[in-house]
Amino acid sequence: MDKIKIIGGNPLFGKIYISGAKNAALPIICASLLTDEPVTIKNLPFLSDIKSLNALLLQLGTQIEEKQEDYNGHLTNSITYHTPKPTSLIAPYDYVRKMRASYYVLGPLLAKYGHVELSLPGGCAIGARPMDIHLSSLEQMGAKIEIKNGYVVADIDGRLRGARVSFHSASVGATCNILMAAALAEGTTIIENAAKEPEIADLINLLTDMGAVIEGINTSTLTIHGVEKLHGATHYIVNDRIEAGSYAVAAAMTKGRLELINADADFLQTPLDILRKTGVKVETTPNSIIVDAQNAVLQGQDIYTDYYPGFPTDLQAQFMALMCIASGAAMVTESIWENRFMHVPELMRMGANINVHGHASAIVRGVEKLSAAPVMSTDLRASFALILAGLVAEGETIVNRVYHLDRGYEHLEEKFKAVGANIERIKEPD
Ligand code: EPZ
Repeated sequence: MDKIKIIGGNPLFGKIYISGAKNAALPIICASLLTDEPVTIKNLPFLSDIKSLNALLLQLGTQIEEKQEDYNGHLTNSITYHTPKPTSLIAPYDYVRKMRASYYVLGPLLAKYGHVELSLPGGCAIGARPMDIHLSSLEQMGAKIEIKNGYVVADIDGRLRGARVSFHSASVGATCNILMAAALAEGTTIIENAAKEPEIADLINLLTDMGAVIEGINTSTLTIHGVEKLHGATHYIVNDRIEAGSYAVAAAMTKGRLELINADADFLQTPLDILRKTGVKVETTPNSIIVDAQNAVLQGQDIYTDYYPGFPTDLQAQFMALMCIASGAAMVTESIWENRFMHVPELMRMGANINVHGHASAIVRGVEKLSAAPVMSTDLRASFALILAGLVAEGETIVNRVYHLDRGYEHLEEKFKAVGANIERIKEPD
C-alpha cells in the first residue's frame, strides 16, 4: 500500500488539466454492452476504477482496444469496447467488491441478453448503499428478480417492458441503470425523480448517439422510448467536475492561483459560489476556471450537501478541510450519505476543531494553522481532504492507504508537483 508524503506550506501556482469524469465514464463503459457493435470512448482518465471495470468487461467477453491520444496538450485514454457475443452474464463478487459501479452491467445485460447475475456490492465506508430502486424499477419493467447466495439473479421473458417508475431518492446509479435498460425495452419508460447530475446527461448523449430515443435531458423526468437495437458510437467523456472542485479548494487553501483547464464552471455553480463567499476570487471562461486566493482572508461558510444542482457530497470533505483554516464557524451538513464524516477524526489529528452532531452535521471552527501528522485515507474524497490539509500543515504529513486516491484522481502527485506542491509517493512493495 503506497503512501503520500507532503511537506506543507507552498502556495500553488499554475495550470492543471482536468481529466474526464470517472463517474460519467463508469456507466458509459457499461452502456457499450447494449450493442454488439464497437463503442469508442475518448477522454477516459487513467484510474484504477476504470481498470477494474475493464477487467470485469473482459471476463464478460468484451474485446478492449486501448490507445493514448493527445487532447489540448493533455494525454488521454481512448478505449474501444466491442462485445459481439458475451461469454458470461455473471458479475462475480471479486470484481463487484473492488468496485461497486460494476453494478452498471445490470441494466444493459438484462435488457440485451435477458439474464444477469450480479453480486450484491454491499455497503462501504460512506453508507449502506442499497440497490432497492434499481431492482424495484426493473421488476416494474417485467424482470423476475431473486437474491441468491449474495447475488441478484434477474431474468426476463422476451424484452423488458416500458413502465412509469418513480424513485424515492434521486439516485444517480439507478437513473443510469434504468436509462440503459429502458433504451432497449418495449414501449415507453418514464423515470420520475431522476437524478440530474451532468454525468447523467453525458450518458444520455452517448445513448442517443447509439440510437436511443430519450426526452427530458437535464430534468428530473426522463422519458425513454425503447428501440429494438442500438448501434456503435464514439463518445468524448465530460470533464470531471469533482476533480476540478477539489483542485479549486487546493488553490484556496494554499493562497495560490490555479487555472483549471478543461473545467466547466456551469457544473460547479453551487461550490464556486461558496468559494467566492469564502473570500476567494473565481473567474470562469467557457472551458476553464481560475481560482485566485493570493490576497484572500478566508471566512467560514455553511455547507449543505444535496442532489445536483445542490452542493455535491463528493466535495464535502474537501470543503470541510478548507473551513478548518477559515476564520469563524461553518456548519457542514451531509444529507446524501449517512456515514460521510470519516475524515473528521483524521483532520482533528492535524489540529482541526470540529464537533460532529449526530451523523449528519458538523461544526467546524477555523484554526490558525494545522500541524502535520500521519493520517489514514478512508474513502476517495476523504483522502483528497487529507492531502489538502497536508498542503497547508506545518511539517511532514504522511497519508496512508492512498489506493483510494488512485481510484478517482488521475496523476495526482504529478498534477500537484507541477504547480509547486512538495509532494511525493512512497512506494511500498505489494
Ligand atoms: C454516485 O453514487 C457516485 N458514484 C458517488 O460518488 C456520489 O457520492 C453519489 O452518486 C451521489 O452523488 C458514482 O457515480 C460511481 P446514489 P451512487 O444512488 O449512484 C440512496 C465518489 O466519491 N439510494 O445517487 O451509488 C442512497 O442510499 C462516489 O466518486 C437508495 O436509497 O449514489 C443515497 O442516500 C462516492 N436506494 C442516495 O440514494 C437505491 O437503490 C444517493 O445515492 C439507490 C440509492
